[in-house]
Amino acid sequence: MQPKLFKVLVGKEIRDDFNDSIQIFSPINNQIIGSIPRVKNKYQIDKICHEAKEAFAIYKNTSFESRKNKLLNFCELLNKNWDEISNLIVQEIAKSKRDAIKEIERTIDYIKLTIDEYEKMINKQPMIIDSNVHNIKGKTGKFYYEPLGVVLAISPFNYPLNLLMTKLAPALISGNVVVYKPATQGSCLGAFISLLLYESGFKNGEVSCVIGKGSEVGDWLIENSDINMITFTGSTSVGKRISQLNPLIPVSLELGGKDAAIVLKDADIAKTAANIVKGAFLYNGQRCTGIKRVLVDDKVAYKLVDAINYEINKLTVGSASEGNFDVTEMISANSIKYNLHLLLDALQKGALTDQNIRLINNNILAPIVLYNVNSNCKIYYEEQFGPVLPIISFKSIESAIEINNESEYGLQASIYTEDIELANKIAKSLDVVTVNINQSPSRGPDIFPFGGIKNSGKGMQGIKEAIISMNRIKGVIEND
Ligand code: NAP
Ligand code: G3H
Repeated sequence: MQPKLFKVLVGKEIRDDFNDSIQIFSPINNQIIGSIPRVKNKYQIDKICHEAKEAFAIYKNTSFESRKNKLLNFCELLNKNWDEISNLIVQEIAKSKRDAIKEIERTIDYIKLTIDEYEKMINKQPMIIDSNVHNIKGKTGKFYYEPLGVVLAISPFNYPLNLLMTKLAPALISGNVVVYKPATQGSCLGAFISLLLYESGFKNGEVSCVIGKGSEVGDWLIENSDINMITFTGSTSVGKRISQLNPLIPVSLELGGKDAAIVLKDADIAKTAANIVKGAFLYNGQRCTGIKRVLVDDKVAYKLVDAINYEINKLTVGSASEGNFDVTEMISANSIKYNLHLLLDALQKGALTDQNIRLINNNILAPIVLYNVNSNCKIYYEEQFGPVLPIISFKSIESAIEINNESEYGLQASIYTEDIELANKIAKSLDVVTVNINQSPSRGPDIFPFGGIKNSGKGMQGIKEAIISMNRIKGVIEND
């Protein structure tokens, strides 16, 4: 079967030179799904970034209304092309069609909310600071938001549309231009989206999509001196590399996590187990906010393991191409290998499981719960990003807090208890950014600030915070 050819928008040009292209394979069956013109050398990257800088000089002076209309056109095109987009998500990353459609709907809402929030921000400007505010004598300070310039957006495979647009929408509405690099597994969609952006009106070089492997093109992009801001979502190792290569540039880094579900002895065990299973196994555990470990009071540990085992049996497992299964193909053979490695390591070191290890078609790993997990097991600390859930028991709330906080990660956590006052108190002691009570961790609702500390990130996202991160304040001071 001939792969589909995906043209790609690079500045003002739509590239269709397929003699030097990248081939994308589906994790479902390893078949080629697409071929896309790729960027192959530093010279090309430098040219793209330089042209983006030139486009910025014009785009930054366009009106809010014109930028808003282009983004609204884009939302319409997402709506119109929902079937093709969701099919691409299914083929390229093996997400179920049901969840792919949810991703499109969420993205449209996200873009519209971004436009609204930006409008509120600019309607309030200039922010005036004068004698009425601070008893400042003889001065009126007027402060405005200004776009930063060329924003480099690097996005991960797991939300190939949504986590791309959470970067592009705030950048473009603010008057920045964008050079973006989608994950290799997600590049067909990334290229397709670039054409929709063009059709929406971004025709003057405001948007460039760079297709290429991160390991090959990453450094050229990160170190490029025409880039004014980097927004990245992905692994901690690449996040650290960005900080090392370009330490002074404004960055937003959304990185890995090891979010804990902390279960106290008074929790409603049946409800808690159902919620934990959803939070841990959605999209095969390939979410930064997935529950990656359960910390449970040892008085209710076995009861919880039984309840989780019961819930796991309800999960449907099968190919993303054949139905809306809860657990589908993993993104790569390496991910499967790593999860199996963590599993076997834990079993050797005393952990137990009541499930059989089941590998279906070599690329679907059926969900597994490990209990009696101890601190010698790698999965106690390492981010599995897969459908394996470790359960660790604790003897006191203090030790649960300690286990949570000794992690290198600090994204989110959840606490399950009937004692909301106690949960609030514990939440304050956890070294994470967000704590959900009786609900698994999650990024949304998207208007909430979202971010991580320690190895989970730098800077904040969420609709308002993303806009703020892509603007600088310009002050004009009038002196009497
Ligand atoms: P990844 O390997 O870091 O990839 C993320 C993006 O970075 C991809 O576009 C990738 O391109 C690119 N990349 C890879 N190497 C690069 C380099 N040397 N320079 C520049 N870019 C490079 O992460 P992943 O495996 O896709 O995602 C899993 C990780 O991301 C997990 O740790 C997860 O927790 C984290 N994540 C965090 C969040 C959050 O919001 N906190 C959200 C999603 C995922 P290629 O695909 O071409 O390699
Ligand atoms: O994978 C990381 C995403 O930011 C998680 O988003 O909590 O909506 O699944 P989510």
